[in-house]
Amino acid sequence: MKHILSINDFTRSELFNEIVPGGKGYIQQARARKLDPSTPEKKVTILMIEPTTRTGGSYDEAGRLLGWDRNVIMGKEATSLVKSESYANTARILAGQGADVLVVRSSIEGSQRFMAEILDAEGYCVSVQNAGDGTNQHPTQTFLDLLTISEKLGRFDNLKIGFFGDLKYGRTVHSLLCALSHCKNISLVLVSDPATALPNQYKNLFSDVLESDSLEALHDCDIIGGLRLQEERFEGDPVALQRARGRFCIDQKVLAMLKDDVIIMHPMPYTTEFHPNIIGDPRLICVQQAWYGIPTRMFCLTEGYNNRKNTTGQRGQAGEMQILKSLSLDKYWEERNGRKKSATYFRPISHGTVIDHIPIGFGKRIQPLLTGNYLELNQGVEHLISNKNPNELVLNKEMLVLEGDFPTEQAMINIASLAPSVTFNVIREGMFKKLKIKKPSLITGIGRCPNKNCITNRDPEAKATFVPNGQDIKCHNCENHFYREEII
Ligand code: NCD
Repeated sequence: MKHILSINDFTRSELFNEIVPGGKGYIQQARARKLDPSTPEKKVTILMIEPTTRTGGSYDEAGRLLGWDRNVIMGKEATSLVKSESYANTARILAGQGADVLVVRSSIEGSQRFMAEILDAEGYCVSVQNAGDGTNQHPTQTFLDLLTISEKLGRFDNLKIGFFGDLKYGRTVHSLLCALSHCKNISLVLVSDPATALPNQYKNLFSDVLESDSLEALHDCDIIGGLRLQEERFEGDPVALQRARGRFCIDQKVLAMLKDDVIIMHPMPYTTEFHPNIIGDPRLICVQQAWYGIPTRMFCLTEGYNNRKNTTGQRGQAGEMQILKSLSLDKYWEERNGRKKSATYFRPISHGTVIDHIPIGFGKRIQPLLTGNYLELNQGVEHLISNKNPNELVLNKEMLVLEGDFPTEQAMINIASLAPSVTFNVIREGMFKKLKIKKPSLITGIGRCPNKNCITNRDPEAKATFVPNGQDIKCHNCENHFYREEII
């Protein structure tokens, strides 16, 4: 692996057969605190734009034990980001100063993926590792959580796992759930205030989910994970914050209900999730869990360094153009007129494009995409045929007619990504061609990510990019899921 940006970039086998054993392989050296012979030509730059005790510290200790040069930058104030420097330039400069691995924590979601893509595109050989991006992901925390589970329980399948606290804004639970979704027979128990409930995009990864607002629901769990109320992420929602504050605390009474061999984890820092009386209980293992961050990150640094020169295929393929039909225009009309239902509810065109099979209501949204650079001649849309025909039949589709103009390939990919059912009838030089975009996978250059904390709304060089995801659409950077209508 070159970059570590999101758990969603890893397969089950990479997570459980490579990364967990990889971290395990460094436990002995980390325990013995035995230094590798000095390798000062290797350098990690640790840029922590949000506060940290564990993640930054364990990357630093991991680098020290490996004998690397370390450049630790703590806090936004220590950087020119406070002077409105862009993330893109921050990445370029730190890479140019010799970072082989660039570890970044930031409140801006998707910033690490953006930095990684900038550095890759410009030929820097740097592994970018996400040490937490806003409410999105914290993949290396998940790696150490998995190592902890492996060391304590020795298995990942057939488990009842409960989480309590702030499941909405806590990024560690988001990442961990993405990994656990690869495991078999997982029952999930989610305990939270409605104001901090787990977003559907994570809940939908599991079929067996119980939601509750009482800690009693955790009584038969094998693993329990606590999450701090992420007060700093409740922008403009003081009522919800007040409601969610101090709601769940494991005390002696709750502890007495739990299984004797449960493991209680927490990424830390914890605030009111555990009563001080239970801190010594052997079931609460969060300090040991945090320690596994050191061997885990020794592995992450080594892997990142070893693969820093790899070219990555982080961005998906744009989509494949499929020709469904290609025949002379005369032949096409002959065929069409022969058909019984030959209603011509729009004036036939002899030069231009008809975009067909647009879902009802989408034509108007697609129309603005057919201007500027997205059209060969920029003549605009001739007309939108919507929901009616002369035979009074209700159409279950809409059509856009571009007389004398042709969408560019990128425009077709973008449209097909928003509305996968569309076909493009291209009528040109006496020929009729029906085209479809198969598996469109990236929408670029149009729309806007509705998440204001997404890097695409924060860095002038970052462009909104989306990936179709079933009925939804996913932001390539902040990984939030949206309805297609929300982005355009
Ligand atoms: C977490 C984080 O930063 O997301 N801490 C950590 O890295 N171990 C949890 C938190 O801040 O609540």
